[in-house]
Amino acid sequence: MALSLNEAPVSAPNLSVDCAPRRPGALVLKNPVMTASGTFGYGTEYASLLDVNELGAIVTKAISRQPRDGNPPPRTVETPSGMLNAIGWQNIGLNACLREYAPTWGRWNVPVIVNVAGFSIEEYAEVAEALASAPGVAAIELNISCPNVEGLPFALRPELAAEVTAAVRAVCDVPLICKLSPNVTDVVEIAAAVVAAGADAVSLINTLVGMVIDTRTRRPVLGNRTGGLSGPAVRPVAVRMVYEVHRALPDVPIIGAGGVMTTDDALQFIFAGARAVQVGTANFVNPRASVEIVAGLRDYLEREGVRDMSELVGAAHR
Ligand SMILES: Cc1cc2nc3c(=O)[nH]c(=O)nc-3n(C[C@H](O)[C@H](O)[C@H](O)COP(=O)(O)O)c2cc1C
Repeated sequence: MALSLNEAPVSAPNLSVDCAPRRPGALVLKNPVMTASGTFGYGTEYASLLDVNELGAIVTKAISRQPRDGNPPPRTVETPSGMLNAIGWQNIGLNACLREYAPTWGRWNVPVIVNVAGFSIEEYAEVAEALASAPGVAAIELNISCPNVEGLPFALRPELAAEVTAAVRAVCDVPLICKLSPNVTDVVEIAAAVVAAGADAVSLINTLVGMVIDTRTRRPVLGNRTGGLSGPAVRPVAVRMVYEVHRALPDVPIIGAGGVMTTDDALQFIFAGARAVQVGTANFVNPRASVEIVAGLRDYLEREGVRDMSELVGAAHR
């Protein structure tokens, strides 16, 4: 239908969100949909299936100082409404990442957030420092919550989480996101600790520790015995944790993850208090899930007459 001359044209809703307002302009995304670490490779693997530039951001697989082969197979198993994985930080290592992927990321019109792994505070700081100065790296996501490698994840103790965050903050000027674990009693305590130590934002949740036993062999299915549970099965836990952190720390940017498969799922996280969401396990079912959710959020704003995405953040608390 044609507009009458007296009607103002309806402008498109604003989907953009600021995930690091303490660093003005440093991590403003054109929409709130990211891919989750470990489910979207280094971004290049999906470039023939979708236009990566339509995404709010891409989060890479964890990068450690040295290349790693990861855990022995089997490394994944399906579970009701989800999956367990125990990949164990398989990656090409810092130098190959800088050489092979950073130049491509620099040419994309989408922020690339690199997920950083380490076995010591020094390793986290060294890898983050090198990546932060690489062209094409928009931010660092500190993976202090992986349940699939030896040693206690730093995100299980507030003082350890704060120590590693402060060490990385001291050597890295780009936005710093700390990825938190659901395998804790009080996630708010950990979120508060990393923000006080210099994190610009938190992402939650990483996977929940689980196990599947093969009743024929009477042994755990995964080579690592335990693995991380992801997918729709974990969504209510993740939404609850985002809700708790937003209620206690309303100014802290939260990136929600855990079973986001559809637009409706993404909206639950946003209403709970997340400024952005990560799409993980869904990529294995539908590689285009993330861009479909971007379109779905745009439709939702238009349908509901909401001008700005950020008006919806935390709606469940009001
Ligand atoms: C196969 C696989 C590999 C993953 N690897 C990483 C990783 O390297 N670093 C990380 O921080 N999280 C990793 N994760 C966790 C996801 O990024 C995400 O936090 C979690 O799976 C919950 O989201 P989802 O239910 O949408 O998958 C991995 C998850 C899966 C399924």
